[in-house]
Amino acid sequence: MLIDPKRFRTILGHYPTGVCVITAITAEGEATGMTVGTFTSVSLDPPLIGFFPDKKSTSWPSMASTGRFCVNILADDQEWLCRKFAMREGDKFAEVIHRFSENGLPILDGALAWIDCTLHAVHETGDHFLVLGEVVAMAVEGTASPLIFHQGKFTQITRIEPASA
Ligand SMILES: Cc1cc2nc3c(=O)[nH]c(=O)nc-3n(C[C@H](O)[C@H](O)[C@H](O)COP(=O)(O)O)c2cc1C
Repeated sequence: MLIDPKRFRTILGHYPTGVCVITAITAEGEATGMTVGTFTSVSLDPPLIGFFPDKKSTSWPSMASTGRFCVNILADDQEWLCRKFAMREGDKFAEVIHRFSENGLPILDGALAWIDCTLHAVHETGDHFLVLGEVVAMAVEGTASPLIFHQGKFTQITRIEPASA
């Protein structure tokens, strides 16, 4: 590899991202979820969103098998949810208040917005998958600011006041 992985992470870490938890119900009926910073809007017609799960993710295969998932956009007081859903072991839903969308997918209490999707396509991209989801339902839940991840740290947005003319 020509590019040093540590350098790659450090330099790409200069690009800030929001933080989402992708939730789903497995074929066995268990709630599951994973934290992602790679969520993005992709297409309006048809309405598509995307994210990149690591091929080593243990949560993604069970989401892929049911073909339905919900994107929960985290607020800036939900760092603890980001950390909880980035764990590999343990019950990620323990003490996590949630309800279910009309499509039966977990909506995390306090999330800024949620987006229910059906699986549209999965592409292999290096050591990650590119997952495209077709949006079937969505809503805004709150007015708080989003959680931001930047240079390996959690950050809040500071609004820039428009310059006076
Ligand atoms: C801020 C943040 C962003 C993350 N973004 C991603 C991501 O986009 N894709 C991914 O595969 N893992 C990402 N992770 C790591 C996963 O959350 C974590 O490896 C995964 O949930 C491990 O559990 P799993 O094996 O159950 O999937 C991120 C973690 C954090 C803290």
